[in-house]
Amino acid sequence: MPGKDQRDRGTLIVGASQAGLQLAVSLRQFGATGPITLVGEEIHPPYQRPPLSKEFLAGQADFGSLALRAPAFYADAGIDLVSGERVTDLALSAAGPPGAGLATTAGGRELPFDRLALTVGAAPRRLPLPGAELDGVCYLRDHDDAEDLRIRLASAGRLVVVGGGFIGLEAAAAARALGRSVTVVEAADRLMGRAVAPLVSEFYRQAHLRRGTDILLNAAVAAVEGSGAGDGRGPGRVTGVTLTDGTRLPADLVLVGAGVVPRTELAERIGLDCDGGIVVDALARTSQPAVVAAGDCTVRPHPMTGRGRVRLESVQNAVAQAQVAAATLAGRSVDVTSVPWFWSFQGDLKLQTAGLSTGYDDHVVRGAPDDEHFSVLYYRRGRLLAVDAVNRPADYMAVRKALGQGATIDRDRAADPGTPLKSLIETGSEPETEPEPEPEPEADAAPAL
Ligand code: NAI
Repeated sequence: MPGKDQRDRGTLIVGASQAGLQLAVSLRQFGATGPITLVGEEIHPPYQRPPLSKEFLAGQADFGSLALRAPAFYADAGIDLVSGERVTDLALSAAGPPGAGLATTAGGRELPFDRLALTVGAAPRRLPLPGAELDGVCYLRDHDDAEDLRIRLASAGRLVVVGGGFIGLEAAAAARALGRSVTVVEAADRLMGRAVAPLVSEFYRQAHLRRGTDILLNAAVAAVEGSGAGDGRGPGRVTGVTLTDGTRLPADLVLVGAGVVPRTELAERIGLDCDGGIVVDALARTSQPAVVAAGDCTVRPHPMTGRGRVRLESVQNAVAQAQVAAATLAGRSVDVTSVPWFWSFQGDLKLQTAGLSTGYDDHVVRGAPDDEHFSVLYYRRGRLLAVDAVNRPADYMAVRKALGQGATIDRDRAADPGTPLKSLIETGSEPETEPEPEPEPEADAAPAL
C-alpha cells in the first residue's frame, strides 16, 4: 500500500474479460476502497463469450443481452472502465511498492498503478497456411468475429470448419441448423481431444454425421484456395480448402477453430515466468508475487489437488481464479480449491463436464449413447475424477456436488442409469477438497459475478 504521503494509484486490471470484471467486482466485495481501473482493447463493456458460438451465431440472442453488467454498474461500483484501449507497454517501477508501475496504451494513454492484475486471455491460433489471408477465412473469439461470421453465414452455402474442438463444433451445429452445408476438418484422430475421452469424441462424430455435418479426422489442410487473388484489388475470396492428400473441399466460408494461444507478451515484458501461459500459484500470484493473473492466460496448479500445472479455458476457472486473485490483492484468505466445470451446447446436444478426467484408469457409461442421453464417469484407482454428461444434467450436478464434497460414487452402482447418482454420493475418509455451495439450478449459465 502507498505511504501516508503518497496517493494510492490503485489497481490496474489489464483485460476487460470475464476474469477481469470478476476481479474488479470481487475487490470491491472484499472491501478494497482504492481506485480500480479495468482496461480492455474491445470497445464493448465486458460480455459473455460462450453464447457467441451458440445463440448469438444462430441469431437467437442479440449482443445487448450478453452484457455482464448494466452500463451504470461501473460508475456505481467505482470501477473506471477504459474500453477500446490496448495496453502495449508495461513496466514495473524500481521505486514504490512491489507491483507498482506504469502501463501505456496504443493510443499513448498512461495508466500508473500500485497493484497489477493480468486477465488478458488468449487469442485464436492462426494457421500459417497459403491463402489464410483470403476474404472469408474467419476466427471466432470476440463479438466482432462472431458478428462478422453471422453476417457471412447468412449468404454462404458451404462452410468448412478447420478444427473439431468446441468452437468448431458449436459453430458447425449452428450453421447446420441454418441449413448450410458443413464439413469439419480435424487434424487429430478424434473430436474435442483436449477435453473429453475417446468414447465421447466418437459419440459426437456420429451425432454430427447424423445431423448432416461431414467430419474428416486425421485430415490436414494444405492451403485455402481463392479467386480474384493477385488482381491488385485485395486478397481475393475463399473458394475452397485443399487437404494434404489432395482432396478439395469447396467453400464460401472457412472458420478456423484450431485452439488458442495464451497472451503472455505483457507478462514477458515485465519478466514474469511464462510456460504455455503466465505461471501462477494457487493464490493466483505470478513469479512477481505482488502481481496476480487469472483466466485463460494462466497456467496454474490443479484446482482440486494442487498438484501439477494445468491451463483451464473455461468461464468457471476465469471466475474462481479471479476471486482468488482479488482476495490475494486485498490481503484476504479464501478457499483456493474449486471443482472445474464446463459446458458445450452443440445444437440440441448439451455436454456438461465436471472435474478433470486426465489420468483416468477406468470409466463407466450410464444410459445409452444411441439415445443421445448418457454420461461417462471417470475413475482413478477407484475414486471418482470427473463426468462428461450428454443431455443428462442430473448426473452432471451429482458428480459436481460429490467432487465438491471430496466424495466419490460407487462405480458399479453408478452403471445403473435408473439409480439417481445423487443417492450414491459417499463421503470419503480423505476429502480432497472443501465442500462447494450447492450448484445453481441453471447449471449452464455463467456464474454470477
Ligand atoms: P480447442 O482446443 O477446443 O479445439 C481445437 C481443435 O482444433 C482441436 O481438436 C485440435 O486438434 C484441432 N486442430 C488444431 N490445429 C489444427 C489444424 N491445423 N487442422 C485441423 N485441426 C486442428 O479450441 P477451439 O475450439 O478453437 O476453442 C477455443 C477456445 O474457446 C477454447 O478455450 C474453448 O474452451 C473455448 N470455448 C468455450 C466454449 C464454452 O464455454 N462452451 C465454447 C466454445 C469455445
